[in-house]
Amino acid sequence: MSSSHSVARTRANPSTDLASHVYARSRDWVLYRGDSLALLESFEEHTFDLIFADPPYFLSNGGFTCQGGKRVPVKKGDWDTSKGIEDDHAFTTAWLKACQRVLKPTGTIWVSGTQHVIFNVGFAMQKLGFKLLNTVSWYKPNASPNLACRYFTHSTEIIIWASPGSKGKLQHTFNYQDMKAENGGKQMRDVWALPRPGEEEIDTEGQGRIWTMTTPKPSEKVHGKHPTQKPIALLERIVEACTEEDALVLDPFCGSGTTGVAATSKGRRFVGIDMNDEYLALTKKRLG
Ligand SMILES: C[S@@+](CC[C@H](N)C(=O)[O-])C[C@H]1O[C@@H](n2cnc3c(N)ncnc32)[C@H](O)[C@@H]1O
Repeated sequence: MSSSHSVARTRANPSTDLASHVYARSRDWVLYRGDSLALLESFEEHTFDLIFADPPYFLSNGGFTCQGGKRVPVKKGDWDTSKGIEDDHAFTTAWLKACQRVLKPTGTIWVSGTQHVIFNVGFAMQKLGFKLLNTVSWYKPNASPNLACRYFTHSTEIIIWASPGSKGKLQHTFNYQDMKAENGGKQMRDVWALPRPGEEEIDTEGQGRIWTMTTPKPSEKVHGKHPTQKPIALLERIVEACTEEDALVLDPFCGSGTTGVAATSKGRRFVGIDMNDEYLALTKKRLG
C-alpha cells in the first residue's frame, strides 16, 4: 500500500519506518536518507520499473590519479574504501538481492563499474539468478591519463544490464525501435560514446552514428559536485531504453541525483536513497 510520503508502494508493516527517513519530496520524486540495505526492505516486492545503481567501486585505497594535470590521492569518501574482497562481495550480494526483490518482472537493473567492482557484481548477479542482458561499454574520450605508465589508460566503464529472473520468457521492457531510430536507423550497439559538447555526430562505415560522451559537463555541476558524478546523457539513454512514461525509477546510491534529473526530465517518477546529507542536499537542488 502506498503511503503519503512515498511515490512507491511500501510494505504494510516495514521493519524500518520509511517516513522518518524522508529527506525531501515532491509530487513525482522522494529522497530517503539512510542505508539502502535497510531501507529497501520496506518497499513492496515488484515495485520498481528500473533501478540504476552506481555503487561504491572500492577505489579509495591509498592510490593516486591525475586531476587537472596534477597527481592527487584517490579519496572519494569512506564509503568507497574496500573492506577486503570477501566483505565487499557480501555487501554487493546483499544490495543486489534487495534490489532483485523490489524490481518488477518486466523491470531491469543497470549497474555501473570499473574492473575494481564489476566482476564482483557480475558474479553476484549470476549466483542470485539475474539474467544478464548486456554489458554496455561506456567510452570516455576525456579519461584521465595513467600516471604509472604501467597500464593502458582506463577510459571505459562497464554497465551491466540485467532482468531480475533468468527463467522463462523474457519479460523486460526494451524500446528497441526508439534506440535504433536514435542510432540513425541501425541497431544500437553495446558500445556507447555519447556526444562531446559541440561535436558533430559521425557516421562510420555505415554502422550508424558514433556518439562521444565525456564525463559530466561543467553545466551539470552548477549546484556543486559529487566525486563520482555520472553524466546526464548516460542516464537519459538508460531511462529511454527501457522504461515507458510514468515508470518508477530507483537509485539506491543516488549521490548527486543524476538518475533523478534524467528520470524526471523524461516524465518518469524517482526514488533516490543516499546516506550522505551533503549529497542529498545537492540532489534536492538539482531536482529543483
Ligand atoms: C558512486 S556514488 C553515486 C554517484 C551518482 N551516480 C551521481 O551521479 O552522482 C555512490 C553513492 O552511494 C552512497 N552510498 C554508499 N553506500 C551506501 C549505502 N549503504 N546506503 C546508501 N548510500 C550509500 C555514497 O554516499 C555515494 O554518494
